Amino acid sequence: MSFDVKHLSMRCIKCGSRYSFDPFLYSCPKCGNLLDIEGYDNPDIFRKENSRLPGIWKYHEALPTTAEKPWISLDEGGTPLVKIPGANAWIKFEGSNPTGSFKDRGMAVAINIAKYSGAKIVIAASTGNTASSMAAYASRARLKSLVVVPRRRIAAGKLFQSILHGSFVVEVDDGFDKALRIVQRLLAKWKGVIYSANSLNPVRLEGQKTIAYEIYERLEQAPDYVFVPVGNAGNISAIWKGFKELKEWGYIDKLPVMVGVQAEGSAPLYKTWSAGSMRLIPEEDPETVASAIRIGRPVNWLKALLALRESNGFMLTVSDEEIIEAVVEIARIVGLGVEPSSATSYAAWKKLLQSGSITEKDTVVLIATGHALKDPGFLNYLESRTVSISEFSELDAFIQKLV
Ligand SMILES: Cc1ncc(COP(=O)(O)O)c(C=O)c1O
Ligand SMILES: [Zn+2]
Repeated sequence: MSFDVKHLSMRCIKCGSRYSFDPFLYSCPKCGNLLDIEGYDNPDIFRKENSRLPGIWKYHEALPTTAEKPWISLDEGGTPLVKIPGANAWIKFEGSNPTGSFKDRGMAVAINIAKYSGAKIVIAASTGNTASSMAAYASRARLKSLVVVPRRRIAAGKLFQSILHGSFVVEVDDGFDKALRIVQRLLAKWKGVIYSANSLNPVRLEGQKTIAYEIYERLEQAPDYVFVPVGNAGNISAIWKGFKELKEWGYIDKLPVMVGVQAEGSAPLYKTWSAGSMRLIPEEDPETVASAIRIGRPVNWLKALLALRESNGFMLTVSDEEIIEAVVEIARIVGLGVEPSSATSYAAWKKLLQSGSITEKDTVVLIATGHALKDPGFLNYLESRTVSISEFSELDAFIQKLV
């Protein structure tokens, strides 16, 4: 085993206990809560010599890395920040990552650690994107991988990617939450042999926090608001950590307000936040068109609640109709194809603009987490735009109507 992480420690977010870095430690042995990684020593992550490194690796001094190089990478990160016409808002298009979602950032970091941890298998419960990403990175690292997914409830593109890249796919009858429970049992039984690629593994979130670094690099400040689709609540926690580090290391003075967005039918964090509860209020039977965020018991709920509280942030919900409308609007006004879960941030932003809670002047970044091609089933929500013709004259008449 060869790590470059001796300076780093793992700290329990609840009881504050500290542990030295251990690739197989995913929760606090004392109180069972989540762990955060800390101990980076004011890294100079934006220095010129690093700028030629690809994607997330420009910031490697702020990541847990292995001593072995080259690091396993598919050039993840470095995604577009696309301005919305006529607005002070940008879409961070994570669909342009190698497997089409933001998961690649954290997966790249996790797989490097997995490779040198001595583990034989990497595993993840998934609503689809973690599975796609893990499958690709595990194959690249020559590790076996096993994804546990809800049967017939993940988007076709994601199942396809998992199989294409060579993962074994375990299907369970209940939803994501059951899949994660099964994975956790396996991890406890096979400690040291199976490595967790789920976002309860804090290493994943370290990779994902680079979204914040990239936004800062482009805008040269933190935006006023960052809207994030929330499922297992890892990404919102990770992005917040990234901004907090930028402040701690002296790059920014002002932090953004974090806005978490869930679907109306799958809103455990929204309910917990609205109730002012410090205990998760789970969604027993989550249901939404946004299958990637159909999660009733988000594992990172406490990290996310802390992020919301520290940032003066809040949770919002959007309906399936609003999500569908947002997918189409992003595709036809902005020009980006995003999957339904990813459109929740845009749908929520529009809602707040309409209600006047935020103005056109506020600088906003909307995280669009995954690519439209992940979910070809979305075609069912689109009205047909196909024109069948048997004669040239019919086409001619159609063109006449268009002009
Ligand atoms: C496309 C997409 N958006 C959002 C999310 C939610 O991210 P998180 O689980 O980190 O909250 C996921 C997670 O599966 C996803 O695949
Ligand atoms: Zn603890």
